[in-house]
Amino acid sequence: MKIAVVPGDGIGKEVVPAVLPTLEYLSEAYQLGLEYDVFTWGADQWLDTGIGLPAGAIDLLSSEYTSVFLGALGDPRIPDMAHGRDILLGMRKGLDLYVNYRPITLPSGVIDLYRENTQGLYVGIGGTVARAGTVSVAIDECVYTRETVEKFVRFCLGQLRDKGRRKVTLVHKSNAVPNTGGLWQDVFRRELQNFPELAGSEEYVDSFCYNLVRDATPYEGILASNLFGDIISDIGAALMGGLGLASSASICPETGFALFEPVHGSAPDIAGKGIANPYAAAMSLALMLDHLGHGQAAELFRTCVIEVSQSDAATPDLGGQGTTGRFMDHVVALLKRG
Ligand code: NAI
Ligand code: MG
Repeated sequence: MKIAVVPGDGIGKEVVPAVLPTLEYLSEAYQLGLEYDVFTWGADQWLDTGIGLPAGAIDLLSSEYTSVFLGALGDPRIPDMAHGRDILLGMRKGLDLYVNYRPITLPSGVIDLYRENTQGLYVGIGGTVARAGTVSVAIDECVYTRETVEKFVRFCLGQLRDKGRRKVTLVHKSNAVPNTGGLWQDVFRRELQNFPELAGSEEYVDSFCYNLVRDATPYEGILASNLFGDIISDIGAALMGGLGLASSASICPETGFALFEPVHGSAPDIAGKGIANPYAAAMSLALMLDHLGHGQAAELFRTCVIEVSQSDAATPDLGGQGTTGRFMDHVVALLKRG
């Protein structure tokens, strides 16, 4: 099985190479048969050639690879993030990765956050009206199709049931955004009837955020549309102890193709210093191992990453003295110890 590795920009180019030796080690030790190729898609290539996601990339990925492991995209030289949208949104849409899973791991347990990843306010429909050279009206449309919401909700409820979860919360804003909000509520209520194991609840996104920060313990599973899920996942990262800790998977349930990436961006403020926390990238790799059916290797890997994150070899954001490389060297040493 082949994995496409895209380090990307900034600290993506630090955390991904730091994590790859653990993939090599686990693949060999557990005979997982995982191989990878590195693709240099990112800001440098965009600035040199004007190419973000190369022509044919989607066909190549879906025919030759099972997953993508991505670092981060973002570069101060490209303030509008045009290359990032081309590459990341290109893969999300081109590979129909409509389920974005972002676990929020807290001392009280894991909250399974699922974000719809392809529609909503991110469909790219809209425009501006200018008067005398200044934008006077700006429009971004929020679009959801029943088909997408249905397949998203059904898949996520199935995942939660299979994980033995009992509760699921739909986060929406149907009082102020009634059309898409109402569609989500209707689909959620209908689909829930097929999942008697799950008790459903619905919360407005604003009061939900308030409740989550005050006390996250009641939540087990969360379903959210694209923008709300994006925002909630950063709140989740803050609750976990920082952006350096949050991992994610973007999945197409029909093909099984998936993209794994840390939630954080390219962090230009610390890029090049060797202090980026590789935890989120490592945990994204663990999600990939789970997804590819290597749960045992994933569990051992997670245990080792957590142990190092609590040691002196952890990066400064976690209170340690370590570097990106030293953190992962210690993880490899622990893996070898078994
Ligand atoms: P960011 O996540 O890159 O950084 C936010 C803050 O968290 C910074 O202070 C950074 O130093 C810190 N941080 C992030 N990851 C860390 C890690 N692994 N270890 C230690 N500290 C870490 O978000 P920001 O600054 O808003 O965006 C920077 C660039 O990244 C922008 O170009 C943005 O568009 C892009 N971006 C890309 C994403 C992606 O590729 N999926 C996601 C979010 C932002
Ligand atoms: Mg985000």
